[in-house]
Amino acid sequence: MKIADKTIWITGASSGIGEALSLEAVKKGAHVILSARNIGKLENLKQRLEEIAPGSVTLMPMDVTRKEDIVKSVETVTKTTKRVDILINNAGVSQRGLVAETPVEVDRMILETDFFGAVTLTKALLPYMIRQGGGQLVAISSMTGLYGFPMRSAYASAKHALKGFFETAALELWEKNIRVTLVYPGRVHTEISKYCLDKDGKPYGIMDPGQEKGIPVETCARKIIRAIERNKRSLLLGRGEIFLYSLKKFVPPVFYLIARKISAL
Ligand SMILES: NC(=O)c1ccc[n+]([C@@H]2O[C@H](COP(=O)([O-])OP(=O)(O)OC[C@H]3O[C@@H](n4cnc5c(N)ncnc54)[C@H](OP(=O)(O)O)[C@@H]3O)[C@@H](O)[C@H]2O)c1
Repeated sequence: MKIADKTIWITGASSGIGEALSLEAVKKGAHVILSARNIGKLENLKQRLEEIAPGSVTLMPMDVTRKEDIVKSVETVTKTTKRVDILINNAGVSQRGLVAETPVEVDRMILETDFFGAVTLTKALLPYMIRQGGGQLVAISSMTGLYGFPMRSAYASAKHALKGFFETAALELWEKNIRVTLVYPGRVHTEISKYCLDKDGKPYGIMDPGQEKGIPVETCARKIIRAIERNKRSLLLGRGEIFLYSLKKFVPPVFYLIARKISAL
């Protein structure tokens, strides 16, 4: 669906890919509802976006790990907005910790944000989307939603789980005119590694060299919006990561040989 004049709810909008998606969407004439926990960052972004298109932004701060926040936000949005055409489940936290050293409590923290956050918001909004006659659900998974990668066991689990959930939703909701787009980015140049959780569940705090070499965030956002407009079921983004995925599919032994030697940082 063309996004001009559409209403798009974007989670994780306070930085990185979410921020770039907001900018791209507003430039193309969409109205955006922006969610994240950091209200200061959201307000700054709103100011920048409204210089481009006055009245184009609604802020809906929330923590996606808190069901009560989500329920309250959905209530407010559905009372005050005529339609939500597109929901982009983008909020997420990555990981730098080895399987053998990371307690399951940290795994659960990551899944609460990256998987259950998206699922809870989607389920809360879905009845409204169905009543309005349809809409589009977007999930920002990761290339680690397609194959495992060192130091990201819980993150990869959450991203694989998103694939299972949203592919199933696409099948079940087709008749309700709900479309689903799953996005699998490789490394994108954002500060995600700084906010990653380490083995103790603490912010990792380091800008990884691999992260710095990721594709530009603006390119990522532009391609995601294009995929949404073209109603694509899935979008793979990246450089070497896509090659690695082909190896996994077609020559798995070579994938396993290479993937365990690539720097995780
Ligand atoms: N960058 C990459 O290389 C890459 C690659 C593949 C996939 N991805 C995925 O792309 C998405 C965005 O990542 P990014 O690179 O843009 O990272 P980022 O800059 O760290 O952005 C993450 C966003 O998620 C929000 N967030 C985190 N926990 C939240 C919570 N509990 N409730 C609400 N919002 C929360 C953060 O906002 P607050 O802190 O203000 O809440 C922030 O806006 C993530 O799902 C990530 O897994 C990124």
